[in-house]
Amino acid sequence: MHNVLITGGAGFIGSNFVRYLLRERGDARIVNFDKLTYAGNLENLSDIQHEGRYTFVRGDICDRASLDAAFRDFAIDTVVHFAAESHVDRSILGASVFIQTNVAGTQVLLDAAKECGIERFLHVSTDEVYGSLGAEGRFSETTPLHPNSPYAASKAGSDLLAMAYHHTFGVPVVLTRCSNNYGPYQFPEKLIPLMMINALHGKPLPVYGDGMQVRDWLHVDDHCAAIACVLNNGRVGEVYNIGGNNEWKNIDIVRLLLRTMGKPESLITYVKDRPGHDRRYAIDAGNRLDLLPLVMRVAGHGDPAFGAALFHATLACALADWVARAAEARAVRTVACAGGCMLNAVLAAGMRREFAARGLALHEARAVPPNDGGLALGQAWVARQSLASAANA
Ligand SMILES: NC(=O)c1ccc[n+]([C@@H]2O[C@H](COP(=O)([O-])OP(=O)(O)OC[C@H]3O[C@@H](n4cnc5c(N)ncnc54)[C@H](O)[C@@H]3O)[C@@H](O)[C@H]2O)c1
Repeated sequence: MHNVLITGGAGFIGSNFVRYLLRERGDARIVNFDKLTYAGNLENLSDIQHEGRYTFVRGDICDRASLDAAFRDFAIDTVVHFAAESHVDRSILGASVFIQTNVAGTQVLLDAAKECGIERFLHVSTDEVYGSLGAEGRFSETTPLHPNSPYAASKAGSDLLAMAYHHTFGVPVVLTRCSNNYGPYQFPEKLIPLMMINALHGKPLPVYGDGMQVRDWLHVDDHCAAIACVLNNGRVGEVYNIGGNNEWKNIDIVRLLLRTMGKPESLITYVKDRPGHDRRYAIDAGNRLDLLPLVMRVAGHGDPAFGAALFHATLACALADWVARAAEARAVRTVACAGGCMLNAVLAAGMRREFAARGLALHEARAVPPNDGGLALGQAWVARQSLASAANA
């Protein structure tokens, strides 16, 4: 049995990872160590809060005493470190909390881990540490670090510290750098949930600059699978890039959301660009294929139609979830879903159950004409999500 300390497990990716590990690893006992900042929400884990292999500890990674107590009380042998300030815009408004949590907090956590001789410390990082790309090329693990925002700089600082603790003290660090994640439980300040909620309420959708910034989007479940894979198989002292081969311009994502939700493009409002806004990120995860077969299987090799199918399906699930949380009205009229034609019915049934479980009425689950008829992989993905939501209902 492994005793795994997950920092930041009440946030977006952390909560998905807690659920992933409980589901996939019967030999893991999980301690979720989270400060519950504005971005942490225990509701993200309400379905598993009574699970015997799961414990929540409210604590700050900057507080050595509470870390020591958690390591000792739960005989921690593995750390997966998600806790961070994670929003670029906030780091531009005020960088100090980013340095405090992401840099100083990571150092305190590394010290605590060093003292109790853990077996593995997985540090979760981001492709943003590499800076910005032009129209061509991709980041590899050997791309020099060139962070452009205070957020990215604080993550790069934490990456360097983690590697230095491996080098100097032998802390068994493995490091992952992932591209943009999408999926359930993301805080609605980030692009996709923010745009969905604004569209839902008929509010303007603020798009930075010309909207032509490119990001490589990966479903959060696939990120979790990749992290688990690196946790098991990764070589200590190495970096593993994780990407989706799924590049999208911000403006295309916003248009896709509007189309899918049946809302007019007139809601798009261009606003002054974010200072220092990186133009393009793209991940080359290819040289890790031997270690990450799962990621490449799920992510789909950059086929735009596949990306769209996958995106629509996720959108429907995420939308159902956020509608249930965010809508002030007790009834929601229409939720669009797309994917393979047959599977729309399954997906719609799953959503009805999710709404009913929350005491909400879903008057209509509408199928959007599928993009390319639901490619095989996209359909499999929709089926997986539908089954998961049906099982949860
Ligand atoms: N979201 C993405 O697309 C993405 C992509 C690549 C990497 N990452 C990295 O993954 C990690 C998780 O990102 P996310 O989007 O889930 O973030 P998030 O903002 O949704 O969640 C962060 C979590 O950390 C907790 N936290 C913050 N400060 C803390 C502290 N001092 N002590 C304990 N807990 C604290 C918060 O309460 C919250 O639960 C981050 O390290 C981020 O840099 C994110």
